[in-house]
Amino acid sequence: MGKNPLCMTQFYKILSACRTPGLKKDMWECFPPDEPNPPTHVTVIHNNTFFSLEAYGKNHKPLSVDQIYNQLQKVVEMSKNSSTPVGILTSENRNTWAKAYNHLVKDKTNQASIQNIKRSIFVLCLDEILPGDMSDERSVAAKMMLHGGGSQLNTGNRWFDKTIQFVVGRNGICGLSYEHTTAEGPPVVSLMDHVAEFCKTEHDEGLPAENVKPVEKLEFNLDNKSLEAIDQAKKDLDKQVKDLDLTVAKFTDYGKNFPKSVKLSPDSYIQTAFQLAFYRLYNEPCATYETASLRKYQHGRTDTIRSCSIESLAFCKGMCDTNVSQEQKRELLKKAVNSHKNYVNEAINGQGIDRHLLGLKLAAIKNGMNVPDLHMDQTYSTSCHFKLSTSQVPSKEEAVLVFGPVVPNGYGLCYNPQESQIIFGVSAFNCSPETESNKMANSVRQSLIDMKNLMAGSVQAKLLYNEPCATYETASLRKYQHGRTDTIRSCSIESLAFCKGMFDTNVSQEQKRELLKKAVNSHKNYVNEAINGQGIDRHLLGLKLAAIKNGMNGLIYIWTKPTVPVVILNYLPVRHLLGLKLAAIKNGMNVPDLHRDQTYSTSCHFKLSTSQVPSKEEAVLVFGPVVPNGYGLCYNPQESQIIFGVSAFNCSPETDSNKMANSVKQSLTDMKNLMAGSVQAKL
Ligand code: COA
Repeated sequence: MGKNPLCMTQFYKILSACRTPGLKKDMWECFPPDEPNPPTHVTVIHNNTFFSLEAYGKNHKPLSVDQIYNQLQKVVEMSKNSSTPVGILTSENRNTWAKAYNHLVKDKTNQASIQNIKRSIFVLCLDEILPGDMSDERSVAAKMMLHGGGSQLNTGNRWFDKTIQFVVGRNGICGLSYEHTTAEGPPVVSLMDHVAEFCKTEHDEGLPAENVKPVEKLEFNLDNKSLEAIDQAKKDLDKQVKDLDLTVAKFTDYGKNFPKSVKLSPDSYIQTAFQLAFYRLYNEPCATYETASLRKYQHGRTDTIRSCSIESLAFCKGMCDTNVSQEQKRELLKKAVNSHKNYVNEAINGQGIDRHLLGLKLAAIKNGMNVPDLHMDQTYSTSCHFKLSTSQVPSKEEAVLVFGPVVPNGYGLCYNPQESQIIFGVSAFNCSPETESNKMANSVRQSLIDMKNLMAGSVQAKLLYNEPCATYETASLRKYQHGRTDTIRSCSIESLAFCKGMFDTNVSQEQKRELLKKAVNSHKNYVNEAINGQGIDRHLLGLKLAAIKNGMNGLIYIWTKPTVPVVILNYLPVRHLLGLKLAAIKNGMNVPDLHRDQTYSTSCHFKLSTSQVPSKEEAVLVFGPVVPNGYGLCYNPQESQIIFGVSAFNCSPETDSNKMANSVKQSLTDMKNLMAGSVQAKL
């Protein structure tokens, strides 16, 4: 969502909130902290038994951690035996639950208990261990949060109508389950990130709260009708639990960092991987839903990003076609990703189509009118049969949300893309012979691997630093008696223009060739100047050293006026700056201001220190870098090969001699390929 301000209303609606089933429609209530008598208790459920735990003592002081712990121990002691799982009713079909609810609240005790739950800040479920393969702990945890394991395990230990239910298992597995009416995932995950962060730090709680109220057991009177409803709910729920096929997968090869490095939107890239994963499994595309947040607008909720597009299909087909070259596949991938990003931008800016069409349909129904023809069209129905229902919910923690598929033969796919890994929750229904969450998770993994391999060969992926650097090359001054060297500054305006051009897909091959020629020729001009005594570096050094040497401010007057250096450089013979600097130093004079200028220092921080040392043999000299985060690069160019010696310091996390050597190789290859297409090469 970038740096856009977002509507924060949802944050105020996730605590002290609850949904109530209704025969025609449900109700939702929130008891905000700024009301005259705000809720101060939480609901704790253990062994299907409900308790009200006051979280504040006298003068609204919150209970300390030890006090809360003691209260929870009392809850556990007071519910050693399991109660009838009245909470399981909240997992029922809403109409069925509404009927049971209306009957339940006819009893005053039940009504008071339910009201207490509704008003509580949140629910805390103290769960039994969910049996499962703990080598796949995340999937076990996901099931525990999503359904609790069934009527014989923890599903009765819930009140699913409550917006937030924290779940803590005996074995330490914890997480939360949330009811979607009031908010999307991001505010809920922010709450969870905050809790996780809070738990990592020490807090001085001061003195314990006074006047702590004892925990109160919430009673339910269950007559035969209610008990029958509970039995039915158990059966219905167990069917659903059995039907759920869930896989949580952690992809650790890379995260948002890789798509960013190749200048692609990570979310759009991951969505494109989903498209490829599905296509590879089913040999066809499918309507795909992704949540777009409308929180740029007040009270905004969501619209739909339709991730399946003409471009994504072209990419999927291209990837499966051996006649399509790698370069073409890369282009197809970029087009698919960028077209998805365009859709995202439209959707989050209120230009999505789905909520608009839904609004038209509901308005028609409400007014007793016929639903518009479009909604009855087969194509429209197919395009709304979202076999992939996806959502990005980023978290600072290694967390992932899971939700079910929205169609019987579809997948629910929720992902948490972190900087260097991505965590997925994939769900499907066992009753569908078409789907399998594990297969889909593996297909997504394979698509991500293949897409990286594809893009790793792209021009963008070859970017090592994405910026130029001051570069030294030795120029020989041996045309002059006793001449030694000057500096060829190989980094130039022209070389930078060429580098940028190479990474710009809008620049044609012909334009790239022109940029390359300009860069090479401008370097050659500098070479000619430098070897003919017109280099600037030894001259400037000479000025500096001369000033130092002469202990004079003698040269200072020349350099103090900001405009003067330019003038001076124009009329002084631009050579032997080193001599001047040395002379200054030798004469004890101040080094001219130019030498202290930040720009000048940067321009002399030679991250690339290079030298050509030709030999008839396959020899190469090696020397160290001249700055801690730089490279030494010596080369022996022969008629039909070039030998390089590349050095760097291990202590610098920025440099890697092997990476640089490979990058040089790749650049030479790309430049040859570029020039091989030129008119000259064809002559
Ligand atoms: N090159 C390099 N970096 C890029 C890039 C590109 N071409 N495009 C994007 N990036 C960067 C972004 O600057 C951002 O950087 P950051 O990590 O420093 O913030 C990062 O990549 C992520 O951007 P992107 O992957 O494009 O997605 P996004 O964060 O904008 O999210 C949506 C896109 C669709 C997920 C988001 O707009 C949205 O609507 N989310 C709703 C989620 C929701 O409600 N889910 C809950 C359902 S219950």
